[in-house]
Amino acid sequence: MPSITEDSVADFNIVGGHPDSRPTITRPLVYSGTLDGFEQNDLTPTIGREYYGLQIRDLLKWDDQAVKDLAATSEQRGVVFLRNQDVTPIEMKDFMIRLSTLAGCPTSSGLHVHPLTEEGSELGDQISVISSEKQKKGGGLTHQLSDVSRFASIGWHSDITFEKVPSDYAMLKIHTLPKTGGDTLWTSGYEIYDRLSPAMQKFLEGLTATHDANFFHDEAERLGNPLRKGIRGSPLNQGADLKAVHPVVRTNPVTGWKSVFINKGFTKRINGVTKDESDVLLSYLFNLVTQNHDAQVRFKWNMNDCAIWDNRSTLHCATYDYSAARAGDRVASLGEAPYFDPESKGRKAALGL
Ligand code: SIN
Repeated sequence: MPSITEDSVADFNIVGGHPDSRPTITRPLVYSGTLDGFEQNDLTPTIGREYYGLQIRDLLKWDDQAVKDLAATSEQRGVVFLRNQDVTPIEMKDFMIRLSTLAGCPTSSGLHVHPLTEEGSELGDQISVISSEKQKKGGGLTHQLSDVSRFASIGWHSDITFEKVPSDYAMLKIHTLPKTGGDTLWTSGYEIYDRLSPAMQKFLEGLTATHDANFFHDEAERLGNPLRKGIRGSPLNQGADLKAVHPVVRTNPVTGWKSVFINKGFTKRINGVTKDESDVLLSYLFNLVTQNHDAQVRFKWNMNDCAIWDNRSTLHCATYDYSAARAGDRVASLGEAPYFDPESKGRKAALGL
């Protein structure tokens, strides 16, 4: 796959976003080749790369350029998979803060504290424990098929887009898994953008959407845990109103590419059009996400595998098709307040595809 070169990048403008949450980089990152020595495989032409023999724990000891290269690769390929990792939850946090910082997150951004994270939870505020057993006991959100929906695709989302400053990267390590099932799927927001007609691209580029997770209040009550209203990783992410307005088309500062930034989980309304029009537009965009299997990658986990994904320009969906225990740890770092740069390009145009 072609990758970004010095010749193909341009400085980007910031339109929108928030003055207190700007990226510290002004140009996309250029991959320098430090990871070329590892065996690797692009799982589809569009999204996903698997590395063999690369340990996050080793990367923690390496110089910054290797970590920057992993950041650039995660953003270009959307998600990278690293098999059989020995990294601990504390090391995951150290690595994610370094990755996000080196990739240019604002100085005000740190690791996210999920509003539903229990105070005093065993691994600390910044680790979300993903656990099917907890979910069974009512201790977590689930998109399992129910009388509400028989569509497994109901669970497509990007992490925490209800925050004013949402996530740039997330890392999930699965340490407990059923014999079969429990795969996770990702899709590319760059590719969703590229599938729109030029007229529709232009129309959507002028719009914002409201992302709302105030349904978490009911969830917090059900769980008997107070919702986390203090600072959740950025001073802009605090308080009880779990709602944010973001551009519908967003520029990713690490690649400089445009992607569609809506998701089934949290995006409730496209602004500046009627509710009817918003419903039609969102339904069309959600269909592009769920019905294009050639924009998706599906990952079959083995024990202790890790995925690191870009939350700006991908969406993901877990698969609840198993009954044995499945569990892992997830860390999400925060990027910038999303913005749109009119000079930025789609992925295919930038790569000359
Ligand atoms: C998530 O939605 O972040 C977790 C995905 C998974 O459990 O596979």
